[in-house]
Amino acid sequence: MKASLILGIDTSCDDTSSALLEARGEEVRVLSNVVSTQAHIHEKYGGVVPELASRRHIEALWPVCREALGQRPLEALSALAVCIGPGLIGSLLVGTCFAKAVAFAKGLPLVGVNHLEGHIFSAFLEGESPRFPFLALVVSGGHTSLYRVEGFLKYTELGRTRDDAAGEAYDKVAKLLGLGYPGGPAIDALARKAKPTIAFPRAYVPGSLDFSFSGLKTAVLKYLKDKRKPYSKRLVAQVASSFQEAVVDVLVRKTEWAIRKTGIRTLVVAGGVAANSALKERMGQMAQRRQVRLLVPSPRYCTDNAAMIALAGLYHLRAGRLAPMELSPKATLPL
Ligand code: KG4
Ligand code: ZN
Repeated sequence: MKASLILGIDTSCDDTSSALLEARGEEVRVLSNVVSTQAHIHEKYGGVVPELASRRHIEALWPVCREALGQRPLEALSALAVCIGPGLIGSLLVGTCFAKAVAFAKGLPLVGVNHLEGHIFSAFLEGESPRFPFLALVVSGGHTSLYRVEGFLKYTELGRTRDDAAGEAYDKVAKLLGLGYPGGPAIDALARKAKPTIAFPRAYVPGSLDFSFSGLKTAVLKYLKDKRKPYSKRLVAQVASSFQEAVVDVLVRKTEWAIRKTGIRTLVVAGGVAANSALKERMGQMAQRRQVRLLVPSPRYCTDNAAMIALAGLYHLRAGRLAPMELSPKATLPL
């Protein structure tokens, strides 16, 4: 059987990424997954500066694609898959215009992929093929949503954050604590050094599968208000640990409600925050208790990457859902 070779491209936020995916029937193999991070550019601002992000994508995209291709010429590709949103519109435009130009010049099929769809299917990059239905919790810097996935392109949103995304809360609390950007990995590491002794609030949003994290962020801000700066290492670790415990409690509890409500026995947890060690551990315990099969991608496939875009792109390609040359990205793009 002839293998398909798909080049994935993701420029939705502050990482420039390109990946090469080989697919032969049910078997998929990531041949390369190159991510050029811009964290060093945005760090001093404590968050992503959209204009700087798009400018950097322009500089980095072709070298990143070249590296992902290795020795292969563009002519060896079967298709291009590009992320078309949601994300920063300037950043998305760089990836989409580039992909359209390459597809047009080389006569290659082009598919457009929703970033969230990429995250959902990232759990199947490592040897697994999706078995439907499954529940998917997407927790990233821009999103916190629970989906029921009945099949490819059959997604029902069961709940979403009403304010901040979980990753956004991590980044904002890290900024308050004087930790760098992105804040998630720093809080994850520090939280191991202290017990969660501070009782921060948990917003369970009763009667719905929605989330809310802005109150928690405000509670951390209030708690730190009368503390003397610079904060002691002990205080920073205690706040990090207590904040993380509050986030993880809510994410695990609400996912458990979704499992009880739907009766679905396969759970995917994806997106940048899925790389969190405490979340993985607590979700694992809950899944075992509920006899649910839990799939969490490797950390490199939790945070933004183009391998997940290439995989979701493969499903579009197989379904004959090719993108026209008029394809344009959208900052807001529901699944
Ligand atoms: O999926 P992603 O790379 O980008 C978006 O689509 O938003 O997620 C980035 C988010 C950031 O907010 C970052 O702080 C968070 O994921 N993150 C983590 C960890 N690693 C990344 N949050 C908690 N613990 C981690 N280990
Ligand atoms: Zn993402």
